[in-house]
Amino acid sequence: MARPRPIRITEVDDQRLGDYAALTDAALRKRYEHQHGVLIAEGPNPVRALVTSPYPVRSFLVAEERVEAMAPVLASVRAPVYVVTRALLEELVRFRLHQGVLACGVRLPAASPAQVVAGRRRVLVLEGLNDHENLGTLFRTARAFRVGGVLLAPGCADPLYRRSVRVSMGHVLHVPFARVETTAAALELLHGAGFATLALTPDTAAPPIDRLALEGDRTALLLGAEGPGLSAGALTGTTSTARIAMADGVDSLNVAAAGAIACYELARRG
Ligand SMILES: C[S@@+](CC[C@H](N)C(=O)[O-])C[C@H]1O[C@@H](n2cnc3c(N)ncnc32)[C@H](O)[C@@H]1O
Repeated sequence: MARPRPIRITEVDDQRLGDYAALTDAALRKRYEHQHGVLIAEGPNPVRALVTSPYPVRSFLVAEERVEAMAPVLASVRAPVYVVTRALLEELVRFRLHQGVLACGVRLPAASPAQVVAGRRRVLVLEGLNDHENLGTLFRTARAFRVGGVLLAPGCADPLYRRSVRVSMGHVLHVPFARVETTAAALELLHGAGFATLALTPDTAAPPIDRLALEGDRTALLLGAEGPGLSAGALTGTTSTARIAMADGVDSLNVAAAGAIACYELARRG
């Protein structure tokens, strides 16, 4: 393995650091990342996940005292390794970055929903998931329980945004996803491919997921937004609704918690 050859940078406005500027400015970052087709992985685990993912690495940015510890990762792909002092790093990204390591990856062309579903036995469909942390957590769960792909119905945030990549521990970079124009289009695709579709809802009229008989070998789980939950179209257009039984007095689970339990239930059944 080649040793990484660090490139020391001493000016915060050096153009080579442009990909990492103002990471806490959400509006600016969304614009920049889409214009330049990039994503940011922050912290050792997300950076490790990036180098083993299908996304090419554009560069690494490392605080000087972290170069040695990260050397095997930095040497695993051919990309520039920019090294800066901790003070310059934090001035650049505009927050305290305890772990002192970031990488910039290149976004891939969007996959089609059909590509994401092809050959998969388990799929998630997310509706209105506009919170990067819930989204990241659900992708981490998807990878943990061998869910092969995720369809993002309208209202979902960008799963490759930095907060989502970080919360997912980088697993979002290993789970294929695609946007669908409507939930109805996702259901049409899934039903045409022989999937049973389960709309997850806390509604006590829905059958408990652990007692539900699953038809066939392919199952998709639908999860809804924190406030409104799933749309009427999702609740009526799926093969079945399903609920995770809860104690009286609790009206719902956080969507990422519900997703984890439901994905585990599917994984448990093989
Ligand atoms: C905070 S809940 C939304 C609550 C909303 N009032 C509703 O009735 O769906 C967000 C999502 O998590 C899932 N969820 C939450 N609790 C659940 C439960 N006990 N059983 C199944 N799904 C649940 C559903 O997919 C829901 O759309």
